[in-house]
Amino acid sequence: MTRLPDPALVVLVGASGSGKSTWAAERYRSEEVVSSDALRGIVGSGPHDLDASDDAFDLLERVVDARLGRGLTTVVDTLGTDDVRRVRWREAAREAGLPAVAVVLDTPDAECRRRNAGRDRPVPAAVLTAQLRRHALLRASLAGEGWDLVHVVGGDSGLDEPAARSEPAAAPDDERRTSQGLRVVLQVSRFPWGEEPAAWLAGVARAADEAGFAGLALMDHLIQIPQVDRAWEPIPEPWVSLGLLAGLGTRLSLGTLVTPVTFRPAGITAKAAATLDVLSGGRAFVGIGAGWWEREHAAYGLAFPRAGERLDALEAAIETMRALWGPGTKAYDGDRVRLPETTSYPRPVGRIPVIVGGGGEKRTLRIAARLADGINVPSDLDTFDRKIEVLHAHCRDVGRDPAAVAVTVLDLPVVGRDRDDTWARVERLRGRTPAAAFARRTHAGTAAEQRDRYGALAARGVDTVFLGIGDLAGPEDVLALRPLLT
Ligand code: CTP
Ligand code: MG
Repeated sequence: MTRLPDPALVVLVGASGSGKSTWAAERYRSEEVVSSDALRGIVGSGPHDLDASDDAFDLLERVVDARLGRGLTTVVDTLGTDDVRRVRWREAAREAGLPAVAVVLDTPDAECRRRNAGRDRPVPAAVLTAQLRRHALLRASLAGEGWDLVHVVGGDSGLDEPAARSEPAAAPDDERRTSQGLRVVLQVSRFPWGEEPAAWLAGVARAADEAGFAGLALMDHLIQIPQVDRAWEPIPEPWVSLGLLAGLGTRLSLGTLVTPVTFRPAGITAKAAATLDVLSGGRAFVGIGAGWWEREHAAYGLAFPRAGERLDALEAAIETMRALWGPGTKAYDGDRVRLPETTSYPRPVGRIPVIVGGGGEKRTLRIAARLADGINVPSDLDTFDRKIEVLHAHCRDVGRDPAAVAVTVLDLPVVGRDRDDTWARVERLRGRTPAAAFARRTHAGTAAEQRDRYGALAARGVDTVFLGIGDLAGPEDVLALRPLLT
């Protein structure tokens, strides 16, 4: 199915029986559709009470204005033939900054007549004939009216058919990629595990494996962060937790997103990751960053030096880990680190990917360009493009092939099972943020809609999406993400 802009003003245009209300009901929540017939039924004796038309349209205009003013999708279900009203609705959309879409139902005349005849209260045949004639004329001029999009449904246009997608071929079997060429890793940041922590964790991981995720990443914090949940909710130590998951025999890669360099001496992180790698059969990765939340450091008696020092430590940590994971036991003498020997067993099964988290343009991205296997940046496309540009400039500067640094993004959408469920989640999660703004920021939509968005990320060369679900409750929610992973 073609995806229309959302949020948007959607104005239906079509004769009686062309299927406007049916089309809208299949795609939108009932609250999003404002229908002159339905309003006639509310202020008059029924949907066909033409004496109630003026009152019904007064209300309709007020509903359109109020919804558009809040940035909410509004589907206007009338015949769509009133030229003055169409102009007004378009202008209201423009004022609200929303795209204005005309949806034209090009159902063949005979089909409209047949459906009309089968209804409880058919429109008189002569009236329908006049509507169909009017529709044919309007069809020709609609394109010149200034809609952001004219979407045609039915007839012989074929425009409502799924658009043919050209997608990169799937990668070899040893790596789990979607047909869009992406690795999608489930990022888990909250742990509503009730009385059964181990069973909950294992259940989520098994569901992620079954659903087709490429991996599972745990957040590394000492106190639950305010962006995710309340401070007294559990936030387990990730390397211990990943040890549990390593034993489940899944195909998931396992790691942190991201480990602050301030929490553990780098050698200890190297030891934990190498151990995880051998226990999981070579599936470990390390996300690492400079740390940012002062409060958790203070609470746990950890130093929290200024940013420059933390970034120095980040650089040194990557050197240290690589030195301890490398073959042999010889001394190491690097840029920031000197070790008298590198005796560290078990050695990892393979090369453990190091993903640097953070978008600091001057230093973080430069560190990633020099030393990392991957860089993790936000999925928001505007900042994304800028960060990648800067990353590649650093790569050129330090003489590293940009292709050697995999681009990964952290994506935190609201995902619903359908449109109703999506909006119920938006209402639950938005706090005091207006619903439309919250929905936009969180790309609220179904898994299939997220997948469309991921197409744009894949086209920009993203290798891995870390997908975090803010209201993840358990394995069922993970399985519901399947449509994203095809
Ligand atoms: N219908 C159908 N197949 C479709 C669309 C509609 O059989 N693909 C039927 C509906 O079940 C309904 C009739 O055709 O009985 C008219 O559809 P509706 O969506 O109500 O048409 P509207 O364009 O909304 O008609 P009106 O302007 O009268 O509201
Ligand atoms: Mg209708």
